Amino acid sequence: MNEQSRPGSATSRATKPGLAGFAAGVRVAWSEADEAALAAGSRVGVGVPHESAHLHVSGAAAYVDDVPERAGTLHAALGLSPVAAGTLLGIDTALLRAQPGVVDVIIASDIPGANECGPVVHDDPILAEGAVRYLGQPVFIVVATARDLARRAAAKARDAVRVEPAEPVLDPRAAHEAGRHLRAPMELVRESEPGACRRAIAAAPHRLAGRFSLGGQEQFYLEGQITYAIPTENDGMHVLCSTQHPSEMQHLVAHALGWRSHQVLVECRRMGGGFGGKESQSGLFACAASIAASRLGRPVKLRLDRDDDFLITGRRHGFEYDYEVGFDDNGRIAGLVITMIANAGHSTDLSMAVLTRALCHADNAYFLPEVALTGHLARTDTQSNTAFRGFGGPQGALVTEIILDSIARRLGRDALEIRCANFYGRGARDVTPYGQTVEDNVIAEIVEQLVRSSAYHERRAAVAAFNATSPVLKKGLALTPVKFGISFNVPHLNQAGALVHVYADGSALVNHGGTEMGQGLNTKVAQVVADALGIGFDQVRCTATDTSKVANTSATAASTGADLNGMAALDAALAIRGRLAAFAAERFETGIESIRFSNGLVRIGGTSISFADLVRMAYEARVQLWSDGFYATPKINWSPQTMRGRPFYYFAYGAAVSEVVIDTLSGEFTALRTDILHDAGRSLNPAIDIGQIEGGFVQSMGWLTSEELVWHPKTGMLLTHAPSTYKIPTANDVPAVLNTTLFDSPNREPSIHRSKAVGEPPMLLAFSVLLAIRDAISAAGGHRVDPPLRAPATPEAILDALDVVRAGGDAP
Ligand code: MTE
Ligand code: MOS
Repeated sequence: MNEQSRPGSATSRATKPGLAGFAAGVRVAWSEADEAALAAGSRVGVGVPHESAHLHVSGAAAYVDDVPERAGTLHAALGLSPVAAGTLLGIDTALLRAQPGVVDVIIASDIPGANECGPVVHDDPILAEGAVRYLGQPVFIVVATARDLARRAAAKARDAVRVEPAEPVLDPRAAHEAGRHLRAPMELVRESEPGACRRAIAAAPHRLAGRFSLGGQEQFYLEGQITYAIPTENDGMHVLCSTQHPSEMQHLVAHALGWRSHQVLVECRRMGGGFGGKESQSGLFACAASIAASRLGRPVKLRLDRDDDFLITGRRHGFEYDYEVGFDDNGRIAGLVITMIANAGHSTDLSMAVLTRALCHADNAYFLPEVALTGHLARTDTQSNTAFRGFGGPQGALVTEIILDSIARRLGRDALEIRCANFYGRGARDVTPYGQTVEDNVIAEIVEQLVRSSAYHERRAAVAAFNATSPVLKKGLALTPVKFGISFNVPHLNQAGALVHVYADGSALVNHGGTEMGQGLNTKVAQVVADALGIGFDQVRCTATDTSKVANTSATAASTGADLNGMAALDAALAIRGRLAAFAAERFETGIESIRFSNGLVRIGGTSISFADLVRMAYEARVQLWSDGFYATPKINWSPQTMRGRPFYYFAYGAAVSEVVIDTLSGEFTALRTDILHDAGRSLNPAIDIGQIEGGFVQSMGWLTSEELVWHPKTGMLLTHAPSTYKIPTANDVPAVLNTTLFDSPNREPSIHRSKAVGEPPMLLAFSVLLAIRDAISAAGGHRVDPPLRAPATPEAILDALDVVRAGGDAP
């Protein structure tokens, strides 16, 4: 690709028409640089619109519920446990069967195979058996002629499900203290010698100890969980499922039916958002619909209502922390001890991997010379918590940011100085707690550039001046860095396959193992294939993800979608291009090195023919015009026993500065301005990447400020189970000024076109908002008292912290 014509750090949003054929007729964000790059023949590094943008906005994008229903389709609904804990005494199926429209009622003992949908550990029943474990747990499936009738019958669970109730344990600290854990604690310790961490803290000139409490987060995908299961001939099942993990769905459905994997075909064209919530937890619904469909021999659709989605599925783990840190006069950490308690809910789900990632991100961008981290998975009688954008990484990194902020306050210094003093170095102070050397560190450059572009120091002075004369409104400012490890922590998951067909007319069809959830994966993969074959986007189409095309895929998760599937698709496209080039060299009697594929043309020596013409000639000469492709991430290794290795192929970096104002009477805050500088490597698509960065930032801001999960302390009912009580950010909550810029620097590793994964790392950018709020609260007490601010920083949380700060440090 042409270096000069790269869109670089452009934030420009000039509106120009899209390319003919690609999103035909739609006007799209487009920059001069994009246009120049395209003209030069590049198909990567340009901000082309999402391949489905025109379908999304016109309502023509098909989701599972939009697929025309087959004749004879039945509808399933789940009957939920009305209590949070207890012994299941019985289910009055006769009562349920007597409800209008009901065709069948299915309970645990009716499941032909395993009553199990746990992705890693087998502790996750599809339907409750023997005991109930949380309020909302599915106990039975009711199948009816219409969805509404199924739901009405399922609502009879209150009368039909008999439980001997027990006292639920809802609080993760209480569960931890009662010894209710799903697994043995995980330890990530790196010390120069045994006990060195504690000794370093004891010997340090300054010490701090504290606690921090961080809430969970609902994925709130716009499209709820849904599966449409269609029985096919000879004991087969075609499962249309909104899932990030078709292969896992295939595996779970086969297991539940007592079948082999080849009997089950799982298909997903797109999701209306997944955010981690459809990685493992689409399994229960895929299984329930398939069990009903196979039993009745009829297509069965199970589409959840939003409230049921909240009550049944888990979400981001809330964390509780205890920490102790020793540091010097410059705020440099000498030793750090953190205990993390993750609220896992009733079953293991992906919690071990989430906790591992949390422990591996506690360092964020900082060198920790002596460190001892312990993680616990507390078992509570609530929904089972699962993947959510960042997968524990944000929970690991945030506590250290809180600690650094407290160190700065103790020393009376700007938190930015303390952060910079602790950054990983180059060639020294560059080893993570898990033993991986940070080779691609660019955090200092990013922060330097952002400090300048955001006028951090001038605005720090302006904020102080404002606060000096403003008794009620207080402003706060914070800059926080991002370092996020890219790869699945489990090495074998880092593989992907693709299938590329070039048809005789020169058009290409791409299938790969990744799933599209709005993040633009198909767009990026199509760009990679178009670039490799030197053809226009209008010549490339991605198909639905389908377990019958690419087998044994990994979840589209850990931000690795484009890295893995882009590489697999490139491998396939290059194989086809290689065969075409060899054919052309022979046919035109020229050297293969001189052959170039660009802009729909193939240059062969002195002549040029169209790609389509070459393809037709190759077809007639019986050249194979389709190929599979495969990729496995190099260099990575990990030992879960020792918590050592190189779990990450590379790191993605970034930083954000946020300025907020709080109203110290009402506890409300307003985000005034955020400046983001984020590292997407050599971006495959700057428009999509900026969308991912801003989307991730706002989603994370919601987690840290307004999205509060409240379970009734006695019944264990999740009270915040709809948008009426669970507050996700709206357009009005986005900072009035939001400047997002890409840090233009190629990946040090040869990733796909030297780009970097961008799906999850931006979650860490919103730490700057929480810490700016903390700074504003601190200002109300003249920066003498560390605000005991919990997250989410709701008005109540802000007022609680203000009370302590104003009372001089003691809870009033
Ligand atoms: N963006 C949109 N629009 N919708 C989503 O569901 N999921 C996020 C992120 N961005 C998500 C999203 C999560 S949790 C991950 S892991 C990545 O996208 C997955 O996609 P990728 O690996 O292709 O980036
Ligand atoms: Mo993303 S939480 O890895 O699906």
